[in-house]
Amino acid sequence: MTEMYADLIKAAKEAHQNAYAPYSKFPVGAALKLRDGNIINGANVENASFGLTNCAERSALFAAFTKGYRREDIEAIAVVANTDRPISPCGACRQVISELMPADAPVILLSNKDEIKVYRVFELLPYSFKAEDL
Ligand code: THU
Repeated sequence: MTEMYADLIKAAKEAHQNAYAPYSKFPVGAALKLRDGNIINGANVENASFGLTNCAERSALFAAFTKGYRREDIEAIAVVANTDRPISPCGACRQVISELMPADAPVILLSNKDEIKVYRVFELLPYSFKAEDL
């Protein structure tokens, strides 16, 4: 799995370096693999008004959508943080991931020792709130 997604993991680690996390001191990097071969990454960007912080996963997904990519164009996401266990995406990101990525896409989560956990998008948020519910 690490070999298969080596480029994606590298891009997530690069974004991790660029995180703006002066308040939490908890940098996170994420990267998306697109079906056309491109990779788009994102980092968490914090704010003195804490609630305005954007997580790495959402930074990457919003960047991809801004470029015109859509749900079906996204193959996988990798997320990296300096954690003892593979990073656990927050609830807000699980909601956004569940709408913006295909339900069966892999979510590759890494620890500071490159330990990996892989979930499918649908596993991360059971009984999620969806557009069809509106
Ligand atoms: N954070 C992420 O960017 N992604 C996650 O999966 C978990 C949390 C960020 C938000 C905040 O900037 C910092 O990590 C601490 O919560």
